[in-house]
Amino acid sequence: MFRDQNILLGVTGSIAAYKSVDIARRLVENGAHVKVVMTEAACRFITPYIFEAVTGNQVYTDLFKDPFSHINLAREAHLFIVAPATANTINKFSCGIADNLLSNLWLAYEGPIVVAPAMNFRMYRKPVVKKHIRDLRQSGVQFVGPVTGSLACGEEGEGRMVEAAEVVEAAVSALSKKDLTGQNILITAGPTVEPIDPVRYISNRSSGKMGYAVAKAAYRRGAEVTLVSGPSSQQPPAGVSFIKVERASEMAAEVFKHFNKATSVIMAAAVADYMPSDAAKVKLRKEDEISLKLKKNTDILSELGKKKGHKVLVGFAAESGKDVKSATGKLKEKNLDLIILNDISRKDAGFDVDTNVITIINNKGNIAEYPVMKKIEVADIILDRMLEISAKT
Ligand code: CTP
Repeated sequence: MFRDQNILLGVTGSIAAYKSVDIARRLVENGAHVKVVMTEAACRFITPYIFEAVTGNQVYTDLFKDPFSHINLAREAHLFIVAPATANTINKFSCGIADNLLSNLWLAYEGPIVVAPAMNFRMYRKPVVKKHIRDLRQSGVQFVGPVTGSLACGEEGEGRMVEAAEVVEAAVSALSKKDLTGQNILITAGPTVEPIDPVRYISNRSSGKMGYAVAKAAYRRGAEVTLVSGPSSQQPPAGVSFIKVERASEMAAEVFKHFNKATSVIMAAAVADYMPSDAAKVKLRKEDEISLKLKKNTDILSELGKKKGHKVLVGFAAESGKDVKSATGKLKEKNLDLIILNDISRKDAGFDVDTNVITIINNKGNIAEYPVMKKIEVADIILDRMLEISAKT
């Protein structure tokens, strides 16, 4: 994720400083060269030694130890993260006050910046703090959090620093190319569930992993993303407009509602093809034998295909075997631009695994095969192909 990236991690004086160790660890694990800069107050909460051990690099605390560290560190960094950022440091950044190494670096640095505030909710709602955060945001600084939750002082409120994983995700996003800016992408994911009675339902084994990965990658690359998802244990990606549904009919209603403003639709959901004709209102009693009458659900993608216009439509074809013929049939029937064929009979592809093996077929009959890859990498390939078509229409 961060191969060959130099990341500067600023740590200020907050109890949340312990989370920065995890941030540093995750950055290093993903290939970054991390250099940590601590304020004097940060060193009262946590020692530089722990960051040295985690990053394998010297930790910087003193403006006067090396006359040019504030310039050299700023010059070599590809990304600057400040986590936790106290109210004091945020206010200093906004006013351009440079009275320690970290605030000097802030002035000298010219690349992308991610800031994760941490403070008591009373401090966070203070107008002067709000104003400085607003000003910094306007100047291009990317803020992540704070969130509402229990605070170190024992109170509840908005001011808690986000967890390390969210800071790292914001870092990935800050370093990603923004080639999907201006695109509005509607994505579906997960299974749908069709009730038999208030207790039982028909569903399928889709985990939602592929669709969520596409949503995450699209947001990282600057798209406005709406994710309509059936039940899934996946965490909705930060920054994505998330709509939770259960039944295919609910998914259809949400997709149709958001279709107009979409520039592209990627239907990764495993929509149930059938639903019980008459879902029982009360729990059914068991009998020796029962039969279930099913009726067909609307084929959402086929309906979109009828009113496609200039939008790019991408479907998935889950097949038992690499059935290019069946996938091509679906592409034509549903009037799609691309179909992503995945062979669900493989152990490294399809439902509930973190990898996928795909074949992409376009509406000109071109077929591209890809090796086994992580779903987040597959997501970028699908988005690249979608963008190529979008640029031509
Ligand atoms: N799809 C849809 N609405 C449905 C069923 C499927 O929009 N009611 C979409 C899926 O999200 C997927 C594509 O159509 O992008 C193909 O789904 P798939 O289940 O593979 O194909 P089906 O057309 O349902 O055909 P079959 O189940 O017979 O393979």
